[in-house]
Amino acid sequence: MQLVDYYQRRFQYLRLSITELCNFQCQYCLPYGYQSKKGHNFLSLSEIDHVVATFTELGVSKIRLTGGEPTLRRDFVDILSLISSYSSVKELAITTNGSRLLKNIHHWHQAGLNAINISIDSFSPHLFKLITGQDKLKELMQCVEKSLEVGIKKVKINTVLMKSMNDNLDDYLSWIKDKPVELRFIELMETGESSDIFNRYHLSGHVIEAQLIAQGWQLQLKNPLSGPAKVYAHSDYQGKIGLIMPYSKDFCKSCNRLRVSSIGKLHYCLFGEAAVDLRDLLQNSAQKQQLITRIFASLKIKPEKHLLHVHNVGMTGNLSYIGG
Ligand code: 5AD
Ligand code: SF4
Repeated sequence: MQLVDYYQRRFQYLRLSITELCNFQCQYCLPYGYQSKKGHNFLSLSEIDHVVATFTELGVSKIRLTGGEPTLRRDFVDILSLISSYSSVKELAITTNGSRLLKNIHHWHQAGLNAINISIDSFSPHLFKLITGQDKLKELMQCVEKSLEVGIKKVKINTVLMKSMNDNLDDYLSWIKDKPVELRFIELMETGESSDIFNRYHLSGHVIEAQLIAQGWQLQLKNPLSGPAKVYAHSDYQGKIGLIMPYSKDFCKSCNRLRVSSIGKLHYCLFGEAAVDLRDLLQNSAQKQQLITRIFASLKIKPEKHLLHVHNVGMTGNLSYIGG
C-alpha cells in the first residue's frame, strides 16, 4: 500500500512534531517565547510507536522529528531508539535549534539519528541574537563541527532569509567553503501570527539564486524523491546551497511530505485549512486497520497547492505547532 494523492504525489517522508515547546524566541515564529496551551498533551512514546508502525507500513522511509524544539523532550533518546528499530526507516532526521546538541549528539547518533538540520539564521553573533533571542552562535557553530565529527551523514543548516537582515550571501559562502554541509535558505513564510514580520522581511530566494548563478554555482539534478529544495554546488566549495522557495511557481508539485502534529493531527499541507485527528486511533495496535482507512480517506483533501501568494495562510498560527 502506498500513499499517493490525486495529483500523483507520493509520500514517503513523514515530519512528526513531538512537542510545541521551544526555548528560543525567533522573531518570525515565537517572538514572545512559547506560551503553553491548555489541554495540549503531546504524543506519548506509545502513540508515536503507533504512528510510526502505520506510516512505515504505508511506505514511509524517512522520518524527521520536529517541534517546537524536539530535543527538549525528556524521552527524546527513547523516541529515537524506538523509531530506528523499524528497519524500513532508512533516514531518521531532526530539525533542531541546537541548544541541547553538544552534550547529547553522541547518544542521539548511537540511538539511530543519521541526519540533522540545525537552524542558524545568521553568522553574525549580534544578528543571531536579534533574530533568535539567544546569544548562542558560537555554540551552534561548534554543533555543526561536532555533528560531523560523531559521524552524522547529512548535516544541513537552515537559515530563514530576512531582507536587509541576513541576506548577504558572502557571509555564508566563506563558511561553507571547507565544510561538507548544505546550507539552506528558507524563504520566510507568512503565518497567522507573523504578517507584520512577513511584510517587512520577506525576500524572494530568487535574489540569492541569481547571485549564485552569477558566481558560477550550478543547479544539481534532483533525485525524484527529494523535496522542493533547489540545490546548487560549486567546484571551489565543499558545501552546497539549498533554496526553499515556497512562493515560486510549481513549488508544491514536488511535495513529498506529510505532517503529524505533536497532538496527533495529520496535516496534508503546512498551510492547509484542515487537519485530521488520528489520536483516538493511536491507542493500541488493534486499531491499525481503522487508522489506515482514515488516512486513505482523508488523503483526498490534500490540496494541490498552498494559497500563500494570496495571503491565505490556512490554520497555522506559527510553525512551532507543526514544525515547518
Ligand atoms: N518561515 C520560514 N521558516 C520558518 N521556520 C519557522 N517559522 C518559519 C517561517 N515563518 C523554520 C525554522 C526552522 C524550521 C523548523 O522552520 O527556522 O529552521
Ligand atoms: Fe506541500 Fe503544502 Fe508545503 Fe505546498 S505548502 S509544499 S502542498 S506541504
